[in-house]
Amino acid sequence: MYIICLCVGLFAISSAYVNVALNKPAYQQNQWKPGDKTYDASNAVDGRKSDLTWNGGQCAVSFGERVATWWVNLTSVHSIHHITIYFLTGSFSGHIFDHLGFSVYISNTTDILQGTLCFKDSNFTPDTMPSIFNTTCPVHGQYVIYYNERESGVIYPHGYQKYVDADICEVEVYGCPIVDNLYGADCCPDVNCQKCNMETDICVECEPGFEGHQCEQACQNGFYGEGCSEIWFLTGHKFAGFGHIRKSDIHCHDLLEWQDSIAASCIRDQVTLANLQDTVSTPKE
Ligand SMILES: *[C@@H]1O[C@H](CO)[C@@H](O)[C@H](O)[C@H]1NC(C)=O
Ligand SMILES: *[C@@H]1O[C@H](CO)[C@@H](O)[C@H](O)[C@H]1NC(C)=O
Ligand SMILES: *[C@@H]1O[C@H](CO)[C@@H](O)[C@H](O)[C@H]1NC(C)=O
Repeated sequence: MYIICLCVGLFAISSAYVNVALNKPAYQQNQWKPGDKTYDASNAVDGRKSDLTWNGGQCAVSFGERVATWWVNLTSVHSIHHITIYFLTGSFSGHIFDHLGFSVYISNTTDILQGTLCFKDSNFTPDTMPSIFNTTCPVHGQYVIYYNERESGVIYPHGYQKYVDADICEVEVYGCPIVDNLYGADCCPDVNCQKCNMETDICVECEPGFEGHQCEQACQNGFYGEGCSEIWFLTGHKFAGFGHIRKSDIHCHDLLEWQDSIAASCIRDQVTLANLQDTVSTPKE
């Protein structure tokens, strides 16, 4: 029994950054009602941001203290491009002031002192504090850390509350994973590139179905797949280095270059060729 299979997956991935923080482990200091999921740190990386109120179950909520920390663990070093933070808002607008003076770090540990400071607020006032904050910070790191503090003895500007909390509804970290010192697809300039060199941007692995220095070229002559190295034949035999055939790409003279006998049957039986998509089968492993 052969299983019919002609899976031509040519889904070009767009070169937009993806939110690499989504559903990653998160932590917050001083959680409001520890153990209650309604206020859990993970609510800020759950992708939900339709309810930005404190008890809607979509926000991380902590109680006021001298120090507030929230972080997400991207689980490996990522190339980060920008970070978007949705602060807790809603009925009690005072929440937004708890954020005045906040900072955002990217670090390889949970320690801000070992990290790179992306942003430190020294300008926002109760009138200008945004409810959605965006900072571009092209840094490599594993943790994105929100931090704020109210040191005793320090005189803070007008509007700063005495205590701070993390109260964040969503943190989106846009960037790419780094694997074996190579960037993943979203950080490579070539649209059909899956992995590229971090320094030179040169693509080292194209999306299946593409080839060329910039992965700009669809596979030719009925080849397809990874490295355009695959083609399947009517007989159901997979030739070494070959794989599936796309009907639209097949011409008898192409087959001639590969194997005379198949080219001959191609010329003899155009109908079979025309129905190739339906009849090509893969051998049972
Ligand atoms: C971050 O995630 C990595 C990979 O899952 C894990 O090994 C590490 O312990 C985590 N860090 C913290 C502080 O939990
Ligand atoms: C994290 O480590 C990587 C190397 O794995 C390094 O390139 C990067 O600069 C470090 N990031 C920070 C914020 O120290
Ligand atoms: C944040 O900034 C980046 C560019 O740095 C931009 O692409 C993105 O649309 C911005 N997001 C928001 C919510 O403003």
